[in-house]
Amino acid sequence: MSNLYDRRYNQQKYYWGVRPSPICFEVLKILPPEKPLKLLDIGCGEGRNAIFFARNGYDVTVFDTSEKGLEKTKMLADKTSVKIKVFNANIKEFRLSEKFDILFSTGVLHYIPKELRSEVFENYKNFTNPGGLNVFSVFVHKPFIEKAPDAEATAHKWLSGELLTYYHDWLIKYCTEEIFDCMSSGKPHKHAVSRIIARNN
Ligand SMILES: C[S@@+](CC[C@H](N)C(=O)[O-])C[C@H]1O[C@@H](n2cnc3c(N)ncnc32)[C@H](O)[C@@H]1O
Repeated sequence: MSNLYDRRYNQQKYYWGVRPSPICFEVLKILPPEKPLKLLDIGCGEGRNAIFFARNGYDVTVFDTSEKGLEKTKMLADKTSVKIKVFNANIKEFRLSEKFDILFSTGVLHYIPKELRSEVFENYKNFTNPGGLNVFSVFVHKPFIEKAPDAEATAHKWLSGELLTYYHDWLIKYCTEEIFDCMSSGKPHKHAVSRIIARNN
């Protein structure tokens, strides 16, 4: 099993748990599915956020590079009796060709190298329906936070405020930065994370 996340997810337990990220509740408040809303979860992991959205009535599609993550997402969907569309794609190559109401991603966009970000975000914005949301949380670099023990060479942390620069022409509905404790790898460490919800007016 060459994929790092396939190895992490290759257990019955859910590596990231099954509770949704707190930002999911903000989405529910800002754009509840009062009409059918298509949501794409970019880098869904084992599906904790996707399942939350599907249970709450959104029409959910997900992708990830981890087959094991996609398999566990489907298992969780079956267990919860919801339907989710699933495909395998790499964020560096994948570009949208159909529109969504909500683009959502937590803890994945650091896999987009800096030189690709403008192009990727132009594509994401162009394929978000009017009134739709881009909901993203990214790891940000802070010189006073030590490198995580399981930090990957393929990850490119963001700068504080960088995510906002892509949305200067959209309405910012929610924007935070915080430091949280993490136990991934079994050793306690910290991460700084920026979260944004931007609306395409
Ligand atoms: C920190 S986990 C976050 C998972 C999920 N979003 C969550 O919040 O539970 C990062 C995820 O990104 C996926 N990933 C890593 N590189 C990727 C890439 N190049 N394209 C798409 N997904 C990728 C991994 O397989 C993993 O599931």
